[in-house]
Amino acid sequence: MILQFLLILTICALVVNFLKVNGNRRLPPGPIRIPVLGSVLTLYRLNPTYPHLALAKLAQAYGDIVTFGFGMQTAVAVSSYEAMKDLFKLQDTNLSRHQFSFVSDRNYGQNLGIIFSHGQKWVEVRAFTKKTLKQFGFGKFKMDQSFTNAANQLVDAIKSEMLDSHDRTFAVKNSKFAIHVLNVLWGIVGGYKFDLNDENLRRNMECVDEILKIIGNENPYTVFPFLKTWFPNQVNYPEHLKIHDEVHGFTEFLINDAIEKRGERLDTEPTSFIELFLDKIDECHGDPGTIFTHQQLVIILEDLMLGSLETTAALLSWSILFMVLHTDKQNKIRQEILKKMESRGELTATELKGLPYLKATILEVMRMGNIAPLPSPRSASKDLKFRDYVIPKNTILLYNLYPIYNEKSYWIDPEVFRPERFLNENGEIDQSRSERILGTVFGVGPRICFGENIGLDAFFTFFAAMITNFKFDVVPGKEPRVDNPRAGMSIAPQEFPVKIRSR
Ligand code: HEM
Repeated sequence: MILQFLLILTICALVVNFLKVNGNRRLPPGPIRIPVLGSVLTLYRLNPTYPHLALAKLAQAYGDIVTFGFGMQTAVAVSSYEAMKDLFKLQDTNLSRHQFSFVSDRNYGQNLGIIFSHGQKWVEVRAFTKKTLKQFGFGKFKMDQSFTNAANQLVDAIKSEMLDSHDRTFAVKNSKFAIHVLNVLWGIVGGYKFDLNDENLRRNMECVDEILKIIGNENPYTVFPFLKTWFPNQVNYPEHLKIHDEVHGFTEFLINDAIEKRGERLDTEPTSFIELFLDKIDECHGDPGTIFTHQQLVIILEDLMLGSLETTAALLSWSILFMVLHTDKQNKIRQEILKKMESRGELTATELKGLPYLKATILEVMRMGNIAPLPSPRSASKDLKFRDYVIPKNTILLYNLYPIYNEKSYWIDPEVFRPERFLNENGEIDQSRSERILGTVFGVGPRICFGENIGLDAFFTFFAAMITNFKFDVVPGKEPRVDNPRAGMSIAPQEFPVKIRSR
């Protein structure tokens, strides 16, 4: 009798919840949300592998602003340029990121770091990190030399791999590029560069790769957090905790190393972000409200690695993929850069950005490669009035770049790789088309990518160095595919081989 009563009560609660959730007429339209599962089945049916493609299909059915159920939580996704710009300029769409359940596991259960932090703490930590990194050269012209040195190191690494390979092939994958990008950043963050053969760093990069999977849509407790409590082994929760611990261990090692090296020096002036942060920890010791804590430093360093390791590297992988599929364009870019080099010698990132065909190509790689189509979601920190809708506080907020980068009425032939679409009749960059990519690929609003300048400059410098030093061709029978990328937090091509010749 009691069981029957409980069953009826549960069914009534589910029906009431269903009517309440689906009957809110002030929310944007969208598919049915069923209790517990939300709209997951609909999304899975639309595309089981790539959520950005599933959401793009929802946009076709319901318009450029759609409500759906992310498990038990309500989510709103925008898929047009205009809606994206309008929604994310609102202050209350920028203060918080959605707190996925892995965030508290990784961030010691606290509001730490830059990527996943929220509110005033996010404002303070982001501003302090930016200001301090700038003090050590972040985003300044004196970084140009670091980019050039790192690009030369990348070229040398490719050359030695070429010599080792009996058939002159090179396997293109993110990890080949990631360490070189990291080294530019670490010159400022830690005051040194990593050794390319550093085994600890390699292992750490593998762990970061795992963390990106934990964050990605393959992990069921991202959508259904209760699974990690009820079925920890089935969702690999204990292994995930070990990975977080291993990454923390590596970061702790870097911090201890910095403390030791500084102890050996006679001068006490901090020479890197880590050293200056350690001074701040000492200064603010005992202040309960301070942002300067040891765990804060660990998470900031890990956020910088997480943000930088995969992104630029994924763009570089895509750029080589498109270059081997379009060798005519590869030749054209090479000619453009070499011509400029005749008069100027080695080119800086700023000079490279002034070359129209190279820039147009990079914009087209960003558009078609689309490495972060669904950036880590934000969360509404208040009820939001947007267009005719009211989006309740704590709603998950997403923007989907895929429909924006593939809008037929705007790009005409979005499925074709055609850098020329970014050039006007005078052969100059079309500013409004360029803005549609550069003004979105790093996100929108105050929560925009922290490493925008470094990411962009590294991409230009590394790509130009590869194109001017090597010729890339497909390995017959092993042409890379554009349509089956690795899905994770960022989208990158599957590993593919290329034929490579020195110029
Ligand atoms: C070309 C390469 C890169 C691309 C395309 C890229 C893209 C993005 C995007 C789309 C976001 C989300 C912004 C939003 O919420 O709207 C983001 C955030 C972030 N990125 Fe990047 N990124 C790149 C390189 C980097 C680098 C090199 C770093 C490290 C210095 C970095 C660090 C971060 C951090 C810390 C955040 C979180 C910002 C916040 O929440 O306040 N990124 N990035």
